[in-house]
Amino acid sequence: PNCSPPTAVANVSQYACQRRTTTENHNKIFTDVMEELAESSEFNESKGPCLAFRQAASVLKSLPSAVHCLKAIQGLPCLGEHTKAVMEEILTFGRSFKVEEIRCDERYQALKLFTSVFGVGPKTAEKWYRRGLRSLQEILTEPNIQLNRMQRAGFLYYSDISKAVSKAEAKAVGCIIEETVHWIAPDAILALTGGFRRGKEYGHDVDFLLTMPEMGKEEGLLLHVIDRLKDQGILLYCDYQGSTFDVSKLPSCRFEDMDCFQKCFLILRLEQGQVEGERGLQRDPGDSRGWRAVRVDLVAPPVDRYAFALLGWTGSRQFGRDLRTFAQKERQMLLDNHALYDKTKKLCLLATTEEDIFAHLGLEYVEPWQRNA
Ligand code: CTP
Ligand code: MN
Ligand code: MN
Ligand code: MN
Repeated sequence: PNCSPPTAVANVSQYACQRRTTTENHNKIFTDVMEELAESSEFNESKGPCLAFRQAASVLKSLPSAVHCLKAIQGLPCLGEHTKAVMEEILTFGRSFKVEEIRCDERYQALKLFTSVFGVGPKTAEKWYRRGLRSLQEILTEPNIQLNRMQRAGFLYYSDISKAVSKAEAKAVGCIIEETVHWIAPDAILALTGGFRRGKEYGHDVDFLLTMPEMGKEEGLLLHVIDRLKDQGILLYCDYQGSTFDVSKLPSCRFEDMDCFQKCFLILRLEQGQVEGERGLQRDPGDSRGWRAVRVDLVAPPVDRYAFALLGWTGSRQFGRDLRTFAQKERQMLLDNHALYDKTKKLCLLATTEEDIFAHLGLEYVEPWQRNA
C-alpha cells in the first residue's frame, strides 16, 4: 500500500490540547479497538495500560488521513509497542485477535453490560459479577440486590437511555431548557456543552451550563428550573447536588471529572412533536409511544467560574485530561473546572472566556469542534 511520507504526521504533539481533532475520524478501525482495550484494562484496574490505549486512540483520531502501514506512524507520540502490535494485526489481518478474545470474555461482557446502566459504575458491576450474575434480567430478579434510586431509574428507562441522542433531539431538549430557564430568569446565561458543543451527531446525553450575570444570583436557579420541569410534567428523574464550592480552598486538588458546582443529572421526557425532521425520535422499531426518555446534565457555576466550567464540561474527557497535564508539566500551573493556579506566581489567573484560559497557558486557541480528542 501507499505509505504517506512521514512529513504528513510530523510535529504531532503528545498533548491533545496542542492537536486539532474534529469529529471526522479517519482511523476508526484502529481507535475503536484501542478504546475497547482501554475499557477492558479499566475493568481490570490496569490504569497505566488504560491511559496508554486512550492516548494512542486520541493521537490517531487527530491524523488528517487513514494510516495504511506502520511506517506512516513512525515518530508519532504515545504509540507504544503494545499499540503498534495491535495496529500491525489490524493492518495485516483486518482484525485484532487480542480484542476478539476480550469481546468473548465472560467477565468483560458482563461488566460492559452492567456499566451500561445509568448509575452503575465498575465497582457495582464487579460486585454483581462476583455474585455470579450475568444478565440484566438476573439483576432485576435477584432478591438480595438493593438498587439505589439512580439505578432504579437506569433500569426503568434502560432501552431509551441506551439509545443515542440525535442532534435534532438535543436541539429539542435545548429549546425546552432555554424556555424554562428564561421563564424563570430572563437574563440567565445558558450554554450547550459536552459532545454536542463539539459538533457530534450523537451523544449519550445533553449537557448544559447555566449562570447569572450577577454573582450569587445563580444560587437558587437550578432548584427553580427543576421545579418548573416538574410542573411541566416532563421530569422523569432528578439527582440534584448542591454546591460545595469554596473559593478559599482554590485551587482544589480534585478527583478526575469532579467539581463542586451545583448540578443535576436528569432524565427528561421528550415528545415526538418537539423534535424537528422526518426521523423524529430515536426509538426501537415498533415502539409506538409518542415520547422517549433523554439524559440531561445541568451545571450552574458562579459567573466568575463560568469560563473554567465551560472548558471542563465541553470536553472531550481526553482533551481536558491533557489540558490539565500540560498545565502542570509544561507551565507549573494547576487547572480544573473551577480555576487556573500559577504555582510560580502563587496566584489564581482570572478568565472570562475560554480564549483567556488558552492564552494564560500559552496555547493556541482550539475551537470546541476541534476538541474531539
Ligand atoms: N465532566 C466533568 N465533571 C463531571 C462529568 C463530566 O467535568 N462530573 C466533563 C467530562 O470530562 C466531559 C464533559 O464534562 O469532558 C461531558 O461529559 P459527558 O456528557 O460524559 O461526555 P460527552 O463528551 O458529552 O460525550 P457523550 O456524547 O457521551 O455525552
Ligand atoms: Mn479529512
Ligand atoms: Mn454529554
Ligand atoms: Mn454529561
